[in-house]
Amino acid sequence: MLDIYILGNGAMASALAQGLYGKYQVNIVGRSKEKLINLEKQGFKTLLYKDFNPENKNIILAFKPHALKDMANILKYKARIVISVLANISFDDLKCIKAQNYVRIMPNIAAKYKASATPYLIKNSHFKDEILQILQTFGNIYELNDEKQMNAAMAISGCAPAFLALVAESIADGGVCEGLSRDLSIKLTQGLFESFTQLLLHKHTALIKEKICSPAGVTIKGIKTLEKYAIRSAFMEALNSSSS
Ligand SMILES: NC(=O)c1ccc[n+]([C@@H]2O[C@H](COP(=O)([O-])OP(=O)(O)OC[C@H]3O[C@@H](n4cnc5c(N)ncnc54)[C@H](OP(=O)(O)O)[C@@H]3O)[C@@H](O)[C@H]2O)c1
Repeated sequence: MLDIYILGNGAMASALAQGLYGKYQVNIVGRSKEKLINLEKQGFKTLLYKDFNPENKNIILAFKPHALKDMANILKYKARIVISVLANISFDDLKCIKAQNYVRIMPNIAAKYKASATPYLIKNSHFKDEILQILQTFGNIYELNDEKQMNAAMAISGCAPAFLALVAESIADGGVCEGLSRDLSIKLTQGLFESFTQLLLHKHTALIKEKICSPAGVTIKGIKTLEKYAIRSAFMEALNSSSS
C-alpha cells in the first residue's frame, strides 16, 4: 500500500484520512501528542513534526494556511508529491516546500464518506495517474483550467456544504414550527436531500421548479415567499463573500 502523510489533525485532515483509509497507508503528522492519540485509536499511524522527514514522501498539507511559512522551516527535504488543501495558498506560495510535483485541491468534509466534490489543479505531469487515483478516493473530482478559478470552486465545494446545512436546518425547523416532531422533521429533511440529489442529477433546476409548481398551488406560494426574502441574491452574495 502506498504511504500518504497528512500534515494536520483537524476536521479536514480527519475527513481525508478516513476517506483514504483501507486503500492507502495513512500517516497523520501533527504537533500535539494528545490530539494524535485520538487518531491512533481510530487505527491511523501518527507522528510528531519533529520526527517527520518529508524526503520522497507523498504529503497532504491540511493545516491552517497561516502556518505555511513555519511548516516550510520544518519540511527541509524534497517531497515526492505535495497535495495542498490550504485555502488561498497559490502554487507560488507552495514553492517554499520543495517537491517534485504540486497539487491544489479543495475537497469538502464529505471526503470522509468518499463523497467530496473536489476541484483540483496539478502543476506538472509527474505521477499524474497516481495523483488522480488518490483524489478519486475522496469522491468526484473536477479539473480546473487555471488557478483563478480555485477560490470560486472552493466556495462551492468547500464552503457551500455549510450553506446547505443552514437550508436543511431551516426546513427542519419550519416543519417543527408547523407541528411535526423534531425527529420526523429531520428524517423528512434527510429524505428530501436524497430525493433532490437524484432530481439535480437528472433534470435542469428550472424544470424541477416548474414541474412542482402547479397553478395557484402550494409550492408557488412558498416560492413567492422565498423570492420576497431575496433567497437567490443571498446565496450569490454568500458565494461571493466566501470566494474573496
Ligand atoms: N473544513 C473544511 O471544510 C475545509 C474545506 C476546504 C479546505 N480546508 C482547508 O483545510 C485546512 C484545515 O482546516 P480545518 O477545517 O481542518 O481546520 P481545523 O479543524 O481548525 O484544523 C486546523 C489544523 O491546523 C493546525 N494548525 C493550526 N495552526 C498551526 C500552526 N501554527 N502550525 C502548525 N499547525 C497548525 C492545527 O493543529 P493543532 O490541532 O495542533 O492546533 C490543526 O491540525 C485549512 O487550510 C483550510 O483552508 C478546509
